[in-house]
Amino acid sequence: MSHDTFGEPLQHYELVGSTNEVAIKWAREDAPHGAVVTAESQTHGRGRRGRSWSSPAGKGLYLSLVLRPDLAPAHVPQLTILAALAVARTVEQFSGLQADTKWPNDVLLNGRKIAGVLCEAEWKDGRLGFAVVGIGLNVNFRAEDLPERVLFPATSLLIETREHRLISEVKPVLLAQTEQLYSLFTNGGWDELRAEYSRRCASIGQPVTVVNEASEYSGVARGIDESGLLIVQTTDGVRSVIAGDVKF
Ligand code: BTN
Repeated sequence: MSHDTFGEPLQHYELVGSTNEVAIKWAREDAPHGAVVTAESQTHGRGRRGRSWSSPAGKGLYLSLVLRPDLAPAHVPQLTILAALAVARTVEQFSGLQADTKWPNDVLLNGRKIAGVLCEAEWKDGRLGFAVVGIGLNVNFRAEDLPERVLFPATSLLIETREHRLISEVKPVLLAQTEQLYSLFTNGGWDELRAEYSRRCASIGQPVTVVNEASEYSGVARGIDESGLLIVQTTDGVRSVIAGDVKF
């Protein structure tokens, strides 16, 4: 049983480049498991695959959590799954609507992206040294605040529910959900967690195209494997997707 409380200690900033960057620096020094960095706004919010994350003040929750599980490198994608699920549950709690996931790191509401997870890890002696799980959740974005050229249509809690929320009321719920799922995870609950993620995963059962630096291929998404990777059945056989964008 873990007795760490997520969000303690907490560093909160008015403005940073990226909360992930600050958390990684802190983790390289002495940030304990459960330490959190949040910011009102970010000048260089980072998204997956070198993209930027639009981070204006008062519109979104920008949070990075330091985790120090004893994990083999192959299992680190499980942390992204865990975080995306915690965000989905949080979004559901505030909207009353079912939130879906899109492998690996997106959370969707009504088919549009409401949040993203960026997990960055560092290794020590072949094991995970630490992981920083960065979460960006669109809370009070209006349609005109959303970035114009995005890969996938975006939305926010405000757009979907017509209700403003204080970022400070969303943050503790997200941290509590993440902590609860983490505790399940470290107590043998990965299969349970993976099953809930899969139930919510919009791409499973769908034809998908996977695009990454090395290749592009199509198939049908069949599920999430033991490590947290997406299983895609192609005409050449079954593949586990380690990285890339999944279009469906
Ligand atoms: C994605 O969908 O591409 C992931 C977006 C992750 C954005 C969050 S905002 C808080 C944390 N700090 C960052 O620089 N990025 C993550």
